[in-house]
Amino acid sequence: MKLPASLQARVQALRVVSRPPHARGIASSSVSQRAVISSLNSFSGVTASESDDERVVRMLMFGKPGAGKGTLSARLTKKYDILSISTGDLLRQHINEGTEVGKQAEAIIARGELVPDDVMLKVVTSKLDCLQDKHWILDGFPRTLNQGKLLDAHLRKQNTPLTLVVNLNVADEVILNRVSDRWIHMSSGRVYNTSYNPPRIAGIDDLTGEPLTKRPDDNPEIFSRRLEAYYGLTSPLLSYYTSQATAPVSAPVASPCQHPHQVLLHRADKLALRSVTGRTSDEIWPELDYIIMSMFPGLRNRGDDVFSPKSQGFDNVVSAGTLSATVPPPSLK
Ligand code: AP5
Ligand code: MG
Repeated sequence: MKLPASLQARVQALRVVSRPPHARGIASSSVSQRAVISSLNSFSGVTASESDDERVVRMLMFGKPGAGKGTLSARLTKKYDILSISTGDLLRQHINEGTEVGKQAEAIIARGELVPDDVMLKVVTSKLDCLQDKHWILDGFPRTLNQGKLLDAHLRKQNTPLTLVVNLNVADEVILNRVSDRWIHMSSGRVYNTSYNPPRIAGIDDLTGEPLTKRPDDNPEIFSRRLEAYYGLTSPLLSYYTSQATAPVSAPVASPCQHPHQVLLHRADKLALRSVTGRTSDEIWPELDYIIMSMFPGLRNRGDDVFSPKSQGFDNVVSAGTLSATVPPPSLK
């Protein structure tokens, strides 16, 4: 699918956007530094339990490339006891570490195309299966209708269906501006923006002191292909989730000895789809936060409610190497 002419012009204009002076000559961050390994060390250990009359956050953060999925997921995981999994971050870690998945994904990502569904399903489920009783957000998956169906089938088997899809509705023009200003800390996935949330020291990650880099797929040509892939392959998922969210709920079959309360709990798992629209964080964040608070009233707040764009919470991001089967319980705070 071709981008509209107005957007092609915008992409063209971005080609002449000059890099911030501090950015020139910044080297890639060290592959060996996997800052996200800290993710489970700061995890509070609170276990989501559907028998506690609480809905469990099993959420998709859905939106175009550059819509703010990573940024807003980080805000939520900073405020609430939720973990997030970003498939883009996982793939970049696989690439950095030279795994088989990384070797397969590198050229595909560089072209702005999508990694095959079967590879992505393995990447995601290997992480998701460790989070069965936790609150989680998926950022960047599913991205095709087939991925959506595969994910549903996988979650259904575990009786842990999705509870919320949030669609970040941000105009293409806004996104194109943002991405030209984006810098990342490769090993953790931390996102900065020279105009929105700049690092404390230009070109340097706030937490590790390591250099920031541009994502190789953030140049205008590749970014326009990523947008095309979104419109062609990913946006149809919105209709898929809309029909799930609006389908009548079939009444669960109650056993004679089941308390009526339990029947209600079962119904509470119906998928909700919410769209949030805005150009800036001031517009989007309060609305998103309200959705989470109102839909999941029992969700534990981490206690640090004060958000500063400069100190986004990235400690609760699930990394490629974080969750092996043998990970010991994190030291609880
Ligand atoms: P991925 O890394 O997931 O990229 P993406 O979906 O294209 O999304 P981005 O990470 O670019 O954007 P974002 O929405 O997270 O926005 P961000 O918070 O950074 O995937 C990369 C590649 O991997 C894909 O192209 C594909 O090849 C492959 N891949 C991944 N998943 C796959 C899958 N399931 N199947 C197949 N292939 C897959 O924000 C963007 C910028 O805006 C930042 O600079 C940020 O600081 C700024 N910003 C964010 N929010 C705001 C705000 N509210 N106000 C102002 N500025 C803001
Ligand atoms: Mg992202």
